[in-house]
Amino acid sequence: MTTVLSIETSCDETAVAIVTNRKVCSSVIASQIPIHTQYGGVVPEVASRQHLLIITELIDRVIKEANLDWSAIDGIAATVAPGLVGALMIGMSAAKTLAILHDKPFLGVHHLEGHIYASYLSAPELEPPFLCLLVSGGHTSLIHVKDCGVYTELGATRDDAAGEAFDKVARLLDLGYPGGPKIDRLAAQGNPTLYPLPEGNISLPGGGFHPYDSSFSGVKTAVLRLVQKLQAEGRELPVADIAASFQHSVAKSLTKRAIVCATDYGLETIVIGGGVAANRGLRETLATAASQRGLKVLFPPLEYCTDNAAMIGCAAAEHLSRGHVSPLDLGVQSRLSIMDVMSLYRTGEVG
Ligand code: KG4
Ligand code: ZN
Repeated sequence: MTTVLSIETSCDETAVAIVTNRKVCSSVIASQIPIHTQYGGVVPEVASRQHLLIITELIDRVIKEANLDWSAIDGIAATVAPGLVGALMIGMSAAKTLAILHDKPFLGVHHLEGHIYASYLSAPELEPPFLCLLVSGGHTSLIHVKDCGVYTELGATRDDAAGEAFDKVARLLDLGYPGGPKIDRLAAQGNPTLYPLPEGNISLPGGGFHPYDSSFSGVKTAVLRLVQKLQAEGRELPVADIAASFQHSVAKSLTKRAIVCATDYGLETIVIGGGVAANRGLRETLATAASQRGLKVLFPPLEYCTDNAAMIGCAAAEHLSRGHVSPLDLGVQSRLSIMDVMSLYRTGEVG
């Protein structure tokens, strides 16, 4: 059994958790959404300051809620990449301080690896190989998960991430930030086939389309043009129908690519990760298409789709159990490919 205290501060949630292997002992998330809403998006300096204000209180809370003392903790982890540099620094500094103070190993965790591991929290029996469809606010990729720390990116968006497209379309429709959950709710009342929108195909030089890569800036522009046209005609915006049509197009695009990719690589399980994994349209479309082809789909528990520290702890516990620990002079990185996860660890040592 490996128990880890983990910290996530890569963007606008301050989160701390204690995880034993693939089981959450306690998890707290302090969302900064109400603070950033007034600016229409995340302000990095404000995010760092908020993390700093609340982090110590959250650490105390998870320790109390898990009813554990420090002797039961085997390692301290924090997200170190990718993300907002100032925000990452707060979580990483807190984790290193605790590691030194309590004489525990420190582990720097890749945020996207955390999103992959979120599904282990509801399916602890899950084992690689599988395909992960990672759809967050900053990333949209198809990742071949071969083993802990061993990943190959098979496809990605060429421009906006899926979550970013949800946020931008929500802003166009005046729904506020973050847009994903708002579009999701509205879409349930709209007609998804009223406005056919592009599915973001990437043309190949010799003809045809790239099977795994996608683009979401085209669908966003198409929604903008539609809104402008309807407004020019003096019509009241059918917001629910536009939201439903947009969501339908994104869900179809992601589903098509995930299914083709899993089939091509002979992978029987598709795991979804990231904030957009909470989207009901995507969940339904993907689950239906996968079951028709005999593929298994796993979604993380809803509370662990968007940013949280439990998923970071789950990834860290797996690394620690394999003897992977990070040096105390590890820095934060605003960008780091998921394929370079192992650069965060010295292998072959425990404690
Ligand atoms: O994974 P996440 O919490 O943060 C990043 O690592 O980026 O993802 C946040 C993104 C935002 O763009 C948000 O609008 C989107 O996930 N999101 C959703 C839903 N809930 C969150 N998008 C669609 N439907 C949802 N229900
Ligand atoms: Zn995230």
